[in-house]
Amino acid sequence: MKKSSLDKQKNNKIWGGRFSTSLSELMEEFNSSIQFDQILYIEDINGSIAHSEMLSKQNIISKKEFLSIKSGLEQIKKEISNKEFNFSTQLEDIHMNIENRLVEIIGDTGKKLHTARSRNDQVATDIKLWLRKKIDKIELSLKNLQRTLIEKSEIYYDLFMPGYTHLQVGQPVTFGHHLLAYVEMFGRDRGRLLDCRKRMNELPLGSAALAGTSYPIDRHFVADKLGFSKPTENSMDAVSDRDFAIEFMSASSLIAIHLSRLAEELVIWSSDRFNFVKLPENFTTGSSIMPQKRNPDAAELIRAKPGRIFGNLLSLMTVMKGLPMTYGKDMQEDKEPIIDTAKNIELCILNMEGMIGEIEPIPEKMMEALQKGFPTATDLADYLVKNLKIPFREAHHLTGKIVLLAETRMTSLEKLTLDDLQSVVPNVDLKILEVLKIKNSVSSRTSYGGTAPKNVLKAIKNAKKRFLKG
Ligand code: ARG
Repeated sequence: MKKSSLDKQKNNKIWGGRFSTSLSELMEEFNSSIQFDQILYIEDINGSIAHSEMLSKQNIISKKEFLSIKSGLEQIKKEISNKEFNFSTQLEDIHMNIENRLVEIIGDTGKKLHTARSRNDQVATDIKLWLRKKIDKIELSLKNLQRTLIEKSEIYYDLFMPGYTHLQVGQPVTFGHHLLAYVEMFGRDRGRLLDCRKRMNELPLGSAALAGTSYPIDRHFVADKLGFSKPTENSMDAVSDRDFAIEFMSASSLIAIHLSRLAEELVIWSSDRFNFVKLPENFTTGSSIMPQKRNPDAAELIRAKPGRIFGNLLSLMTVMKGLPMTYGKDMQEDKEPIIDTAKNIELCILNMEGMIGEIEPIPEKMMEALQKGFPTATDLADYLVKNLKIPFREAHHLTGKIVLLAETRMTSLEKLTLDDLQSVVPNVDLKILEVLKIKNSVSSRTSYGGTAPKNVLKAIKNAKKRFLKG
């Protein structure tokens, strides 16, 4: 459609003063971010209310003007949340859409809102406010996931299962101990999020375009109003900094790594061959062709999400590298990865929590796998060292021979007789049969952080104190 010259003039209402022609339609589409940055509307409006209140306190605008701006902005908030707001790509982004509407509602006073600020400090502030809120939600959902894992480990603190290295049976552990391993990982993840939140919590607004402003503004007042710990120190850094988003996405990448490992274990454990656990039906799907199937789709999706979450991190790191001071339009490319990461990491955590809450271990199958894997071989070697004073390397070798014997007989270490054992190590006595029992092996692992059920109970108590209080 051809635009009239009036339309063309109308185009760039906000910054069009020095322009004689309008943007090409192609460029308009390319340039605008409203499709994805409208998600920031609450933060943008809250930031603007705090800013205009400060302008009035500093006598840069009148109290009456502030109140009129505030009521206009509140109306806009309602319009957007009720989906009654017409977003325009001509107005590029959420900041200009809101400002333009403000002028429509309250008239020329609305044009004073942008005094002593720029979209550069505004957008940095909006993203920080938005991310801060998301971090709080994500951190809380991790805490809930930890709680669910701890509750499960309390039920299964003495349920034996094989512990693996190389996905080969290593030593027996308890299911509770295994789940608590993830509680530690998510604890570190929470720490990283809070750490990044703390560093992020400095207010960019008032840095203006890049150099600060000549108006007598009070940045501490705005920081206070918006819950920031203080204003940023350097105006150039403030408008060009996206470290906080990269930090958030790195922290999220580690969360995604941890979740994907647990997800992979759920896939393995629920597979026909392992059959260690039954996943809750409401987190699995059927096959359209194979009626017997119950596929671990939620776990598989969690296993796959690091693809986009790492991708988002790499995407923003690449945008930021080599960018000269200060703001560049390049930085508009930050939003989609940030939003996508926040959304998906939260979904992964919630789905994982849903699955773990309803997971049902199948103890017989875990025991069956333990019987096959010679998991007490280390106990046997340790016994030879401790009781017969055989050097560990030699004990290791002799144990290997005993394992081979059990393997040829197609039996477990627990089922070998004293005669069998003495055929390899002539001076072992009856006590060794006790050592080969799974239960005794697990209970003997009492070193700090070890898997003995009584340790697990202590670890649970400790984990509750460290992660769940407050
Ligand atoms: N939509 C822009 C962004 O997301 C807002 C900042 C625009 N600033 C500017 N100088 N063009 O980055």
